[in-house]
Amino acid sequence: MLIVKIAIDGPAGAGKSTIARLVAKQLGLRYLDTGAMYRAVTLAALQRGVSCADEEALLRVATSMDLEIVFDSETKSNLIYLDGQDVTAQIRQPRVNANVSLVSSHKKIREYIVALQKEIARQGRIVMDGRDIGTVVMPDADWKIFLEASVEERARRRQRELKRNGHDVELLELAEQIRQRDHLDSTREVSPLRKADDAIEVDTTHLTIEQVVDKVLSIVKGDERDV
Ligand code: DC
Repeated sequence: MLIVKIAIDGPAGAGKSTIARLVAKQLGLRYLDTGAMYRAVTLAALQRGVSCADEEALLRVATSMDLEIVFDSETKSNLIYLDGQDVTAQIRQPRVNANVSLVSSHKKIREYIVALQKEIARQGRIVMDGRDIGTVVMPDADWKIFLEASVEERARRRQRELKRNGHDVELLELAEQIRQRDHLDSTREVSPLRKADDAIEVDTTHLTIEQVVDKVLSIVKGDERDV
């Protein structure tokens, strides 16, 4: 059986999950939003009153929580269930945004979550988006895409996403949060956000969603790279 693995990495707000989902849909592959797994651990910790700085306590939360990721084959999106409850919207709340970088910086949390992700990747036929997919989770991916966009554009996209979920947040505040998350994500000790040496970079700042999807599809279909 053909094992197809596509890794899509990049900073917060570069469009990874939207693009990864649509590319998966076009190619008939599964899709996994790996950030949602770190978000679920963060939400569970906040609900249980556990400090996001306490690595051991967080690991107990991660290993004891019941995390279910349902791949909706119709919409190609991921529904996230925490202890039997649908938390797909809750994991996008500002309080989760504010703590998830810290949670995902802990070595033991990453080891635990990455092992789960590698297991999901094993069967192939998947598009995964995250920060360390091309470098750590699927270093053997057939295709590695690194999406970029300016901080201002990423803040605007985040603002629209939050608004759809009923949260009004100032643009400047979001730009500052994105800068902080970029810094935390790319300077952390364990698997920092980094473009894999063999990844192809796509700057999405001035591109529409459709244009980015087309570009990624043309890369995957071999138009822009020797295979
Ligand atoms: O993509 P996102 O905004 O949902 O990611 C949430 C956080 O999780 C972000 O701070 C980076 C972290 N993350 C990570 O470290 N590794 C991944 N593979 C995915 C996300």
